[in-house]
Amino acid sequence: MKIFTRKSELKEFLSTQKDDKKSIGFIPTMGALHQGHLSLIKKAKKKHDLAVVSVFVNPTQFDNKEDLAKYPKTYDNDVALLESVNCDVLFFPSVEEIYAENVTSEKFDFDGLEYQMEGKFREGHFDGVGTIVKTLFEIVEPDTAYFGKKDFQQLQIIKKLVEKYKLPVKIKGRPIFREEDGLAMSSRNVRLTKEHREAAPFIYKTLKKAKKKFGAKNPEELTKWVEKQFKKHPLLELEYFTIANEKTLETVTIIEPDKKYRAFIAVFAGDIRLIDNIRLNK
Ligand code: PAF
Repeated sequence: MKIFTRKSELKEFLSTQKDDKKSIGFIPTMGALHQGHLSLIKKAKKKHDLAVVSVFVNPTQFDNKEDLAKYPKTYDNDVALLESVNCDVLFFPSVEEIYAENVTSEKFDFDGLEYQMEGKFREGHFDGVGTIVKTLFEIVEPDTAYFGKKDFQQLQIIKKLVEKYKLPVKIKGRPIFREEDGLAMSSRNVRLTKEHREAAPFIYKTLKKAKKKFGAKNPEELTKWVEKQFKKHPLLELEYFTIANEKTLETVTIIEPDKKYRAFIAVFAGDIRLIDNIRLNK
């Protein structure tokens, strides 16, 4: 695997590959890689000549300095995992390499997608995501970029970014990867205490129960039911649960038969914030 820390060197290498008509599948990450990331890389390897992964903990998408400082950094393990799936290229830039002196976000208009759910609780988060993803796309110029559906709102926002800026890249969302007990894989899981790790599968269990009740209960009743389950839980604190239209991400009160809906959830397990979601119909 080739490792680049400088964008100019990466661009130069990739331009020779493009001259040779090689197609590029790109997986942007913040490191602390897990099986979910590896599944994206395996998919990219199947579909493209080259799989390119970036590992960059992007400071502008963190609304909380402590969260940024504590974000897991597992470089050696990441490199070993990338090599185990025959990743072709790793881009591992420094903050200066990406932002120079100006560690700030561009302001984006994602047609309102950015004000829903995560946007209400993490100020500036999606401007930070938009900034780094657009920058990375400009450096790598991939044919296709792959993202997990655990961050479903992020996925929709990146699709909007590509549409609005007419970026020449295809965006593919891939299924959520789960631990055996149902917990959605996340780089943050390694920071859970033993107690919170044992408690965390309750999140997906509750989502699955909510899915079963969808239809019999209306969205408001279902939301109240989920809130009640978490009030009874001694270790997990619900930040939000909402049922939203998959396309607009707006919370809904009425279900229309021809629309797709998803339930979204954010929960604190101690000071670790976990998110998850589930498709409710179709
Ligand atoms: O999902 C992530 O890991 C990050 O938000 C991303 C897309 C790599 C941007 O920093």
